[in-house]
Amino acid sequence: MQIVKSSFIIFVFIQILFSCGSSNGESNNKKIVSIGTSTVLAHSYSNTTKINTKHLTLDLDIDFVNKTVYGVARHEMENHGSDTAIFDIKALEIQKVTIGNGNEHETDFIIGKKDDLLGQPLFVKIKKDTKFVNIYYKTTDKTEALDWLDPKLTEGKKYPFMYSQGEAILTRSWIPIQDVPSNRITYSANVKVPKDLLALMSAENPRNLNPEGKYHFEMRQPIPCYLIAIAVGNIAYRKLGPNCGVYSEPELIQKCKYEFVDMPKMIGAAEKIYGKYQWEQYDILLLPYSFPFGGMENPRLTFANPTLLAGDRSLVSVIAHELAHSWSGNLVTNAAWEDFWLNEGFTVYFENRIMEELYGKEVADMLAIIEFQELQSEMKTINEGEFPEDTQLKLALTNRNPDEGMTSVAYVKGAFFLKTLEQKVGRELFDKFLKLYFKENAFKTVTTEGFEKLLNTELLKPNNITFNTKEWLYAKGLPSNCIHLKSQRFEDVQTLADRFASGEDLFKVKKSKKRKKQKKSVLTRDKFSTQEWLAFIRHLPTKMDPKQLQKLDDKLNFKGWGNSEIQTEWYVLGIHSGYKGIKPNLKKFLNKIGRRKYIAPLYQALSENPDDLIWAKKVFIKAGMGYHFVTRSSVIEILYPHKEHVETKK
Ligand code: BES
Ligand code: ZN
Repeated sequence: MQIVKSSFIIFVFIQILFSCGSSNGESNNKKIVSIGTSTVLAHSYSNTTKINTKHLTLDLDIDFVNKTVYGVARHEMENHGSDTAIFDIKALEIQKVTIGNGNEHETDFIIGKKDDLLGQPLFVKIKKDTKFVNIYYKTTDKTEALDWLDPKLTEGKKYPFMYSQGEAILTRSWIPIQDVPSNRITYSANVKVPKDLLALMSAENPRNLNPEGKYHFEMRQPIPCYLIAIAVGNIAYRKLGPNCGVYSEPELIQKCKYEFVDMPKMIGAAEKIYGKYQWEQYDILLLPYSFPFGGMENPRLTFANPTLLAGDRSLVSVIAHELAHSWSGNLVTNAAWEDFWLNEGFTVYFENRIMEELYGKEVADMLAIIEFQELQSEMKTINEGEFPEDTQLKLALTNRNPDEGMTSVAYVKGAFFLKTLEQKVGRELFDKFLKLYFKENAFKTVTTEGFEKLLNTELLKPNNITFNTKEWLYAKGLPSNCIHLKSQRFEDVQTLADRFASGEDLFKVKKSKKRKKQKKSVLTRDKFSTQEWLAFIRHLPTKMDPKQLQKLDDKLNFKGWGNSEIQTEWYVLGIHSGYKGIKPNLKKFLNKIGRRKYIAPLYQALSENPDDLIWAKKVFIKAGMGYHFVTRSSVIEILYPHKEHVETKK
């Protein structure tokens, strides 16, 4: 580190004290007070109201041997006269910091106290007119955003793979940055990778290998920094439409082409509802199985989980969801993580509209009901837990991990709020309002209060409509006017589930005398869609006789179905029922898949029984090595709630 002048040390020292919460009294120095309060509230130490990045240029060298990114983050900043620039870092090694563009010279910097959640503030001494700050750094083995996969964890098994996950506050663990959703930046990147691998980012992307392994990226539209993303691997490309296509390992590219064939239609449907797609190109990158989410809406390049390749296009609503984020989330962004429902609730609502447009209302309603069931059960858990106020749309996440806001409240209560509003005002007026919302706020951030105001002035007041908006946004639970959806097809399978549970043999093959034909059994695999099977399994009693479950498996093979939604549902029921027959398949599943939505409930169910818990811990020791940090840390919380030491680091 540079030798730091004493006045800078004292200035920074006071700020560190403040930002660590050890000062709550009056201070004569207003500058310090404002920095301290605003930043920690927003899950960031940065002082973006004083000085903020406008454009970021990244020089990155991706070293697979050491699983390290060597980088320079060149921040072009808007400085309102500040003599300190504060960035967020987490588990990064900072080598030096310079100021200037072209003519760089080193400057003093100090790294503040470590916080397990937020990381550390990086204070850089600048001049009141400094515009360029360049941070030389490298990632470490504690970097949480990056997943480095050995070849054996990829489909092809020959090449390594690396990808990033930035949302919510992990970008600071691979780039020193002002990690707040409310600051939008454009970015460029020069990336060097091994010659036989392709690099991709959430930017304008290459389609072919560069013989020297050098790639240049531009993201010309301003984005919040949680959307900066990178992936490097043995990756092929196929076009699916005029402005869309899919990237994946070559071994899976044909399957991707089949599964995602409706992408151009989805883009068309979305544009028809809420206006032009603003990001030129829309591609999907299918990641390896360790990817912790179903999808992540990195602009121009949605990251997708390979479990979406169900083979029958039954899980494509996840693609509709990530595409919808191109409007809600990426174009209009939640100002803080407390407003997360503005990203996800809008997106689930919009996703459902896209699904309705493509596959009809019956299918869209079934999807929404499945989600609503999840909301009801999660609300129950939240109500019984430490933070019952988490059933509000507007969240209180100070001193908490923003990940804790990632519940179906933001997603499904948010979407049902918008559905209820739509029902109240009519689709025509509602769409007109939402179009305006996206247009007025394009490339901006919005708070819940800002949305509420716009809703009142542009939709409710002019049309003389009264609506319990405040209750929906700021009160716990589900308001009684919540729209109620019904599905005849679900009711039919639920009746079958009741009949099966009460002992009726639904697999008996009846012979019809008249036609001399054999009548098929009532339950056959191809008779129902994925969502109907989910509704069927969910409707069975939460604890069943294992023999009955065995019978269903003998006839329908839920345990080896190859559809991850059905498998998860089935395994959870199996675990609760003490049905040992699932164990070999369950073990395979836990070893292969890293999507948290599936993995966490399985470990949760296993942890509820002492023998299963021992088994789960054993499985996790090996399987956990293949998970991304996001999933691994959630599983550790489930299996080791008392924070016993666990060695799972790769
Ligand atoms: N943006 C989210 C994923 C996310 C949220 C990552 C918060 C980190 C913090 C993404 O769009 C998402 O919601 N994925 C869902 C898809 C589903 C709701 C269709 C998932 O992965 O399950
Ligand atoms: Zn989402």
